[in-house]
Amino acid sequence: MRKPKTFNNPERFVEGWYWVMPSQNLRIGEVKPVTILGRNLVIYRGKDKRVVICDAYCPHMGAHLAEGQVEGNEIRCFFHHWKFDEQGVCTDIPCLTESIPVKLKTWPTAEKYKMIWVWTGENPQQPIPFVPELEFEEYESLIGPRIITNCHPNVVMINPIDAQHFSTVHQLPGDFFFEKVEIYQNALMFNNYTRGNEETFFGKLIHLFNNNNIYQICYWNGSTFTLTFGSDFIHLHIMVTLHLLKAGKCETQLIFITKKRRGIVGKVLNRWVLWLTSLFAGYFVKGDAKVLQTIRFDFKTPIKADQAIIQFINYIEKQKPLMWETWQLARSREVEPKENNKWREDLTND
Ligand code: FES
Ligand SMILES: [Fe+2]
Repeated sequence: MRKPKTFNNPERFVEGWYWVMPSQNLRIGEVKPVTILGRNLVIYRGKDKRVVICDAYCPHMGAHLAEGQVEGNEIRCFFHHWKFDEQGVCTDIPCLTESIPVKLKTWPTAEKYKMIWVWTGENPQQPIPFVPELEFEEYESLIGPRIITNCHPNVVMINPIDAQHFSTVHQLPGDFFFEKVEIYQNALMFNNYTRGNEETFFGKLIHLFNNNNIYQICYWNGSTFTLTFGSDFIHLHIMVTLHLLKAGKCETQLIFITKKRRGIVGKVLNRWVLWLTSLFAGYFVKGDAKVLQTIRFDFKTPIKADQAIIQFINYIEKQKPLMWETWQLARSREVEPKENNKWREDLTND
């Protein structure tokens, strides 16, 4: 194997949609600092409820815009009161009557699954990641836990297609074989139809009322994957969305998703399914935690059973890589802005 350039690289990531924070953590008129993939950004919600994400530093003299104020749908810098609209155009300089062509860099944003997302390039080339099975369905979602691991996001991402570890770590004997399916551009999907072991607690649950198993993984933009598993009786969906942190660590956010059922019974059922999904996610996460905290990834000896992992590495290598120039700055920074720490704590306490 040639040495990959983007895969497992602690300073590169793939252009795509990245999660920022839960929607409920940003109220109308609020502005907060965030650091995403080593870049310092500012996020605010205007009067029209829309979220705006822009570079953190004012294009006048570099003041941090999270010190400023939201005015309508615009943001005013605290330092000399320059004002910028949601496209980053400077609309007011109090000491000047004419305008000057100065622009604040803004980033495409969206809200989905009760989460705020940012596209790390100029124009979104792809939709926000979704569960293929629910592409045209209404859904309910629940924000799950956030987990920090001591390895690169790509190393976390190969876990659900690591055929060998299903028996060794998760005690699911059976021949796991992942079949690559290409249905969306920029996404990589694998299906597995092998029956697992029905002796274990997990196996029994999965085989409850069913004949046909489903285990499907879909990778999106190199930074998120959706997992669908279950039986004829029920399909559970987990979205796992990841960030590269400094020094090649990883921040993972879990989102549980289910097809929306209507009525009072439907509502109760939706909640129950989301709760069940979180149980399953917990089972997998606990099993893998040990490995992901201490691994020093070095794929020296691939074998046939690792085929899907090699296909994933090739997929990552074909994506558009980005290197944000502020990595160095972010890495040298000891303390994150105060507000940022605050919402992170809130999230952890949930
Ligand atoms: S630094 Fe922002 S207005 Fe001067
Ligand atoms: Fe696992």
